[in-house]
Amino acid sequence: MTATLDARLAEALDQARRNGTYKTLRHLEGAVGPHVGVEGAGEVLLMASNDYLALSAHPEVIAGGKAALERFGASTGSVRFICGTLTIHRALEQALARFLGTPAALTYSSCWAANTGLIPAITRPGDVILSDALNHASIIDGCRLAHRDVVRETYRHADMEDLAAKLAAHRGAPARFIVSDGVFSMEGDVAPLDRIVALARAHDATVILDDSHGMGVLGATGRGTPEHFGLHGGIDILTGTLGKAVGGGTGGFVAASPAVTETLVQVSRPHLFSNALPASVAGASLAALTVLEREPERVARLRANAARFRAALAAAGIAPLPGESAIVPVIVGDTARAIRIADCLFTQGLFVTGFGFPVVPEGHARLRFQISAGHTAQDLDWAVATVRAAWGEAG
Ligand SMILES: Cc1ncc(COP(=O)(O)O)c(C=O)c1O
Repeated sequence: MTATLDARLAEALDQARRNGTYKTLRHLEGAVGPHVGVEGAGEVLLMASNDYLALSAHPEVIAGGKAALERFGASTGSVRFICGTLTIHRALEQALARFLGTPAALTYSSCWAANTGLIPAITRPGDVILSDALNHASIIDGCRLAHRDVVRETYRHADMEDLAAKLAAHRGAPARFIVSDGVFSMEGDVAPLDRIVALARAHDATVILDDSHGMGVLGATGRGTPEHFGLHGGIDILTGTLGKAVGGGTGGFVAASPAVTETLVQVSRPHLFSNALPASVAGASLAALTVLEREPERVARLRANAARFRAALAAAGIAPLPGESAIVPVIVGDTARAIRIADCLFTQGLFVTGFGFPVVPEGHARLRFQISAGHTAQDLDWAVATVRAAWGEAG
């Protein structure tokens, strides 16, 4: 079968190459930051990373990771309930709960694991999950993994009338859940959380918010989409990643009531059957959270940078999708064109990623610029000038 399978896969890969949609991996030669060395290309301006607060290579974050590695070793060699829980896991979970204003938190090896571990664990047959149509793939897969008799429906993106109608239609269900990204990863827009929460209260529903792109970015102190709406501490269940603004490297969490986190320890499959977050990552994340709490000015700088970049792009006649986050997408249309423009920019020293089908719908391919608190005004202005020049060339 292997030869036949390889031939079948090779044909699909060739097709992607012919269509101009084949993805190539770029190898970075050092730590990410506003600039990064890329194998074969030298130093480029990086606008493709979620390291929004430039914490990934921060000396305290590196020191936190190293110290944890030295004290706890590389791995526990076990899943958490067997022999895999370290005191540094508990310290990180307490720090996350404190930062996010929730009674408890539980870490996972990624937010992907958190979302796919949470949703099946807390839903039961007959329950209803209402999910925003543009939610992240990990939420979609989490919903898919729930019991087959859980009702899953999507509501139109950020459409509160549609959500209200669906909540009303499922009035008799044992439990209703509304699940949404805080900041949508491909659009960069912010979920209407105030209205989602109001609807949830009116319909006795539970809100699950994945704030992977909101934490460290929105709110005066970077506490995310809830803080942005004056709802800090008021969301039933938060999930998020430690691998974006909180530059710990990888890892995810669920922050919620102890009833939720304790249930997850009992029944959530990625918790029961997959190793814990490495100590080095827990140590680095803990240090990153400490820097974030101490230096909220990083969040302000990030937002000022994003506003400057959006305004300069628009002034150059390349209007991005509207938004307040650090994700600045520009719609290009065709997937091959998006990849062509991204390649052209890369040769000029600007690293930005073109996204096409199947990550976004056909015809909606885009360049997704990601802003860092570490970018200088000069970086951002140069990027806009470079994009303007490449726009016509690669057209
Ligand atoms: C909204 C959202 N949720 C979850 C994830 C997955 O996060 P992780 O890399 O921690 O698995 C991502 C990452 O792209 C994301 O954008």
